[in-house]
Amino acid sequence: MHATSSLPRVNLTNSRHALPPDVESFYHLPHGEHVGKACQGTACFAACHLNPELWTQANAQSPRVYCLGECFAAPARGQTNPRPPVKVFAPHGIVLGRIAAGGARTLAAYEKLGGYAALRKALAGTPEQVLAAVEASQLRGRGGAGFPAGRKWRSVATQQPGQRYVVANADEGDAGAYIDRYLMEDDPHALIEGMILAGYAVGASKGYIYCRLEYPLANQVLRDAIAEARVAGWLGSRIGGKDFAFELEVYTGHGSYVCGEETSLLRSIEGKRPEVMARPPYPTERGLFDRPTLVNNVETLVNVPWIVTHGGDTYAKLGFSKSRGTKALSLNSLFNRPGLYEVEFGVTVRHIIENIGGGLRDGAKLKGVLIGGPIIGMIPPHLIDTPLGFEELAAIGAGVGHGGVVAFDEHTSIPALVEHVFSFGAYESCGKCTPCRSGSGRVEEIFANACAGDATKTDLQECRDLVVALKLASLCGHGTGLARFAESILRYYPTEIEPCFK
Ligand SMILES: Cc1cc2nc3c(=O)[nH]c(=O)nc-3n(C[C@H](O)[C@H](O)[C@H](O)COP(=O)(O)O)c2cc1C
Ligand code: SF4
Repeated sequence: MHATSSLPRVNLTNSRHALPPDVESFYHLPHGEHVGKACQGTACFAACHLNPELWTQANAQSPRVYCLGECFAAPARGQTNPRPPVKVFAPHGIVLGRIAAGGARTLAAYEKLGGYAALRKALAGTPEQVLAAVEASQLRGRGGAGFPAGRKWRSVATQQPGQRYVVANADEGDAGAYIDRYLMEDDPHALIEGMILAGYAVGASKGYIYCRLEYPLANQVLRDAIAEARVAGWLGSRIGGKDFAFELEVYTGHGSYVCGEETSLLRSIEGKRPEVMARPPYPTERGLFDRPTLVNNVETLVNVPWIVTHGGDTYAKLGFSKSRGTKALSLNSLFNRPGLYEVEFGVTVRHIIENIGGGLRDGAKLKGVLIGGPIIGMIPPHLIDTPLGFEELAAIGAGVGHGGVVAFDEHTSIPALVEHVFSFGAYESCGKCTPCRSGSGRVEEIFANACAGDATKTDLQECRDLVVALKLASLCGHGTGLARFAESILRYYPTEIEPCFK
C-alpha cells in the first residue's frame, strides 16, 4: 500500500447548478465541507481503538462525514490518498483484473489490456445480442438488492420510443465499501464502456454517473476519462460508424447517504429535493426527467464488457446457486490483510475472513461481521460457514449488500454499535416516513442510555416495537435495513444486549 501526501486538485462542478435553498438544505455537504474531515463510518467505528483521538475528533465534527472509502486504513482522515492491496481470488479477474495488474486509468492503458474490444464486438452486431448476453449471464445488481440486470435492461429497452437514460449509481454510501471508488479511480474506462454498451442495448443516448462528493479523485478521473473517450470517438454521434449516439456526464453528489437510493438519486440529478419516491412507477418506466431510465451500480456495469466479450453463458458458469459470476469485496482494517478482493460467489464467509483476510489482526477474536452494511444483518461467528450468495445470506438475516466486509473484534461493544448504526440511520433519514424519521433517533437515544447504564426493560420493549414499525412502514431500504440490522442484533447477541436494560 502506498500513499501520496495530498489529493490532486479536482473539479467538482456540475453543469446544472446552483441549488435552491430548499434543495440545498437536504444535503449535508452542499459546499464540499468534507475536506480534511475525519471519517465517522462503521469501519472507523470498528477500528476506533486503534486511534481514539481521531475517533473523538470524527464524532465532534459537524457536518458529519460518514465514509471516505478508506476502510482498509481505518480510522481514516481522508487527507492522503492511499491505495488498498488488490487481488483476484476468482478464476477470472472480471471486475478487478486490470486494477490487480496495476490499473488502467488512461485510455491507452485500458486499450492495451483489451479495453473497448467488447464495444467493437457489440457494434458489429445488434443491441438485441448485447441484451441477450446480459440476460444469459444471470448477472444481478451489485448495488444491494441483487435484482436481475437482464430483466431491468429488457424493461427499459421495451418502453415507448424516445429519450432514455443510463445512470451509474456511484454513490457508494455504505460505510465499509470502497469497491466502486477504486473501480472509478483505477479503471474508469471499464465503467464508461459498460455504460455505452448499456446505452446501445436499451436505446439510450445519454448517461449520467452519480459520483459521491467524498470521492474527489474518482470525480476527476472520470471526467478526464470521458474526455479521452470522446476524442477517441467512443462517445458522441455515429459511434463506431453506426447510427448510435451516446453522451456521458458526471454528476457530483452533495453528501447524502439516501441519495444512493435510486429514486432519490434521480431527483438529485434533476435538481429537486431528493426525497425517496414510492415505486411503481419504476425508473425503468418513468425515471430521470420522467423518461425510461436504467439505473445500475458501478460494479454491475463493469461486469458487462467481459460478458459481451466472453458470452453470457461463460459468465453464468461462474458462481453458484442463484448468484452467478464474481463479487468484489472490500475488507476493513481489522483484518490481517485488508484490501479489495474478487471472489467467486459460493465461497464461505469463513473463507473470506480466514483465508483471504488472514483472520483478525493481533489474533483478536471475531465478534461478528457486516457484509454490505451497516443497514444489513450482522453475521455472528457461529454462522460464518454460510456461503456468499444472495439467498443464502438473506436466509440468516444478512445479505451480500454492496460487498463491504466489516469485521468487529472484542473491542466492539454491541450496544455501542447499535447506537452508532442508528445514529447514522437517523442522521441520513430523508424524513418521509415517521418510523425512520423519528423512530431511528429514539432507538439511538435508548441505546445511548443503555451504554450509560441508564435504560430499562420497558425501553428495550419500546425498541422492539420501533423495529417492527421500521420494518413494516418504511418506504425504502434505509428504514427496512435498519430494522434488519436491529433484528439480527436482538436475535444473535441477547447476552450483550439484555444486561444493559435493568
Ligand atoms: C438507502 C439506500 C442507499 C443506497 N445506496 C446505494 C449506493 O450507494 N450504490 C448503489 O449502487 N445502490 C445503492 N442503493 C440501491 C439502489 O437503490 C438501486 O437498487 C441500485 O443502484 C440499482 O443498481 P443494481 O441493480 O446494479 O444494483 C441504495 C438503496 C437504498 C435504499
Ligand atoms: S425509510 Fe427513511 S430514508 Fe427511506 S423513504 Fe422512509 S424516511 Fe426516507
